[in-house]
Order: sequence, then structure tokens, then C-alpha cells
Amino acid sequence: MEVILAKSAGFCFGVKRAVDTVYEQAKKSSGRIYTYGPIIHNEEVVNDLEQKGVWVVETPEELRECRDGTVIIRSHGVEKEIYDLLEQEGISYVDATCPFVRKIHRIVEQNSKEGCHIVIIGSGSHPEVEGIKGWSSDAAETTVIFTKEEAEKFTLKEKKRVCIVSQTTFNNKKFKELVEIIQKKGYDIIVLNTICNATQERQAEAKEISRNVDAMIVVGGKNSSNTQKLFEICKKECENTCYIQTLEDLDLSKLRSINSVGITAGASTPNKIIEEVQKNVRNEF
Ligand code: F3S
Repeated sequence: MEVILAKSAGFCFGVKRAVDTVYEQAKKSSGRIYTYGPIIHNEEVVNDLEQKGVWVVETPEELRECRDGTVIIRSHGVEKEIYDLLEQEGISYVDATCPFVRKIHRIVEQNSKEGCHIVIIGSGSHPEVEGIKGWSSDAAETTVIFTKEEAEKFTLKEKKRVCIVSQTTFNNKKFKELVEIIQKKGYDIIVLNTICNATQERQAEAKEISRNVDAMIVVGGKNSSNTQKLFEICKKECENTCYIQTLEDLDLSKLRSINSVGITAGASTPNKIIEEVQKNVRNEF
């Protein structure tokens, strides 16, 4: 039987880099390691790190108490205020912000300094967007837009240049729709499409593989929205698609009497789990 593992399965470049950084630091540092927010939304990884003495801190107040160790900033990035706090308090830190997110911080910082009104297309409650917002020099001149209604309502009191950026994981089509609505308002606009391709590439590859196999396995947390999306995409192409969290959920007997199986995984699925699934499927046949 042929087993095809998607190249884009699992962690994207930025998340892998951040998770690797935490493991490296936990290995080499004698002091405590803290991550500002969970490094990734995967229970297994967070529990494993906890056992290695990595603590999660959630608030600036908790951060102030981290003088005895090293703080790691996760791939989502943080607002400028957090860097200032770490510097002022003399807390050692390692910045694992994804370079693609850092780039957005720089764009926002520079354009807001030059007097632009900043529009961030994304979800206001997402930590990445909160971080991006925190690089604008004027909170009153920063707007987060998530829906068509919000885009329609968008107006400025005075004529200003508008700089539009996007949350990295935002949907490309929806981004274009929202930009079009804002464009019609006649402002002088700079649009920077800062959407990262990692998610789209993972989805496109999953679609392609599932189209050509007899069965498809999607690995990822039940609450992971990007894994659910992957499952939906694969299920459309291949009726025999199963969604598993770990190897334990996989019913290998269902894969008997087929000729090919594809495997993909959501963005927060550790490589270890993907490898385990792959190995067992290969061994079975
Ligand atoms: Fe991942 Fe960085 Fe893109 S964290 S989704 S590679 S912006």
C-alpha cells in the first residue's frame, strides 16, 4: 500500500522555530524558563514542557515576577509595551516571534509614526492582532476590522492616509473583500497583504493528496479549528477520511483492503504524533 505524508503536515515554520527555541532553552538553561502565553495550543506539548520545568505566564504582572529565569516570546508576537517592560525590569528573554509577524510590527510602527491611520484586518481578540495593535503609536488611530459590517462602518474624522495590514492567518478572499469595501470610501490607502501562505499551502496539499488516495487521515486536536478545516477539505475529496487526535484513535482495520492512504496534520500537531501515525500505518501493511 502506498502511504503519502503531506510535506506541509503539522507545525509551520514559525511555530516550529518557537517550539524548538523553548526545548533548546529548557535544555541549556539552569534557571527557569517561562513562555508568555502557551507556546502552542496543544496539550501534549504544554504538558511535556511543564515536566521539563517550563512555566506559562499570562499577564504583564506575572511577567514582572520572572527575573529568576528567561522569558520566551511565542510566534504570535507581543505588543511593544511587553518588550519595554522586559527591558525596564532587566528580565532576560528570547524572542521567538515569527519573522513574518515581526515584519507586520515594523510596518505598523513605521506607518503610524508617519501619521497613517492603521487598519488591521483580523480578529481583535487574537493574541497576534493584540500584539500588532501594540506597535501603533496612537491607539485612537488604529482600527481592527473583522466583518463586512465593520468595514462598511469604517470612517475617519479627518482625511488621513490609511495603512491596511492583515493577521497572518486571515482568509485571503475575505481580506480582499474587506479591502475593497474600505477602498470605495476614497481614502488614500496603502494595502499590505501580510497573510502567510503556510495555512493555504497545507490546505491545498491536503486537497490534492486526498483527491488521489483511497483513505485519508487527518491528525490534530479536536478543538483545533485549522485541523477541522483540513478535515472538511479532505472529506469533500475523499469520503473515507478520518479525524484522529493521536494514534490511539486510529482504527487500522478500516484501512485494510485499500491501496493508498494519505496523512496530513493541523498546524499545532507535533511531529512526534505524525511520525507515530505514519510508522504504524506503514507497519500495518
Ligand atoms: Fe506560521 Fe509564521 Fe505563518 S507562525 S502561519 S509561519 S506567520
